[in-house]
Amino acid sequence: MRAKAVANANIALIKYWGKREATLKLPDVGSISITLDDLETITEVSFDASLTEDRFVLNHDAQPHETARVTGYLDLIRSMAGIETRALVESENNFPTGAGLASSASGFAALAMAASHAAGLELSPEELSVLARRGSASAARSLFGGFVEMRRGQLDDGSDAHALPILDQSAWPLGVAVAITSRVRKAIGSTDAMEQSALTSPFYGPWVSNQETDLEAMRRAIGQRDFEKMADLSEFSCLKMHGLMLSTNPGLVYWNGTTVDCIHAVRELRAGGVPVFFTIDAGPQVKAVCLPDARDQVTRTLRDVTGVHDVIETGLGQGAKLIGDAS
Ligand code: PMV
Repeated sequence: MRAKAVANANIALIKYWGKREATLKLPDVGSISITLDDLETITEVSFDASLTEDRFVLNHDAQPHETARVTGYLDLIRSMAGIETRALVESENNFPTGAGLASSASGFAALAMAASHAAGLELSPEELSVLARRGSASAARSLFGGFVEMRRGQLDDGSDAHALPILDQSAWPLGVAVAITSRVRKAIGSTDAMEQSALTSPFYGPWVSNQETDLEAMRRAIGQRDFEKMADLSEFSCLKMHGLMLSTNPGLVYWNGTTVDCIHAVRELRAGGVPVFFTIDAGPQVKAVCLPDARDQVTRTLRDVTGVHDVIETGLGQGAKLIGDAS
């Protein structure tokens, strides 16, 4: 009862922030993302009758403080599979954890795929996406490659709140440069933060009610391979989400000074004719998305911004998949 899976991180172009139901992790808004290449989590799950409790190892270090979350998630899979066996979960991220690089997305996508397979469940891609969502809503998107839409869904049981592929990564290649502006783990995680936004921000209602307009426009931009439109819509959605965060009480400020300098650097490039835009999640890193030929120039520019530690270059990647021999 062992399986291993790999999943890539994703970044939302039309952002998700806020839940309509917390236990099932049902989003209050749909979202559209791109799945990245090279920023991956590899997870192996071994259900083992000799274990008396679950064990979680991340990047070769035992994680006693994170194990309860993993156990809660495995309990879900165990109840679906009708088993009680404890498991060893070994995960490796090849990028910094907990700093706004969506490690929970690749992490829960890989865990959902490996654990469900190891437990003997045979799930459809949509059912796997629903299962990944129970770990982290953005993880539902990392099951698929390229351009992906996460449906808000309407049903109370969450069975229609899953992601779907929109366009394959090879149909419209893009470059991505991620500027690392801090390596510190974020102070407030997205689960608590978005709950605070829903409770306290005066912008929360309009944020939810305007989302469908942005999703529809983004679907069209992707369908037409309209980079300029995609750039405008992505920056708009990103800045609206950060406006919502800033207007939460107490305010959520995920940016540092270098984050702001990177925004200006990207805007300057674009004003000079370079096809590039920025997007930022619940952390200080700046993700610049561009047409592939512009990536070297974008990377060089971001490297020159004072305070940038490193720039990770990547592109669009594939969805989660099983690797190695299962048993
Ligand atoms: O990782 P989650 O599911 O708790 O939420 C993350 C939300 C953002 O990354 C800020 C936006 C998004 O749509 O990915």
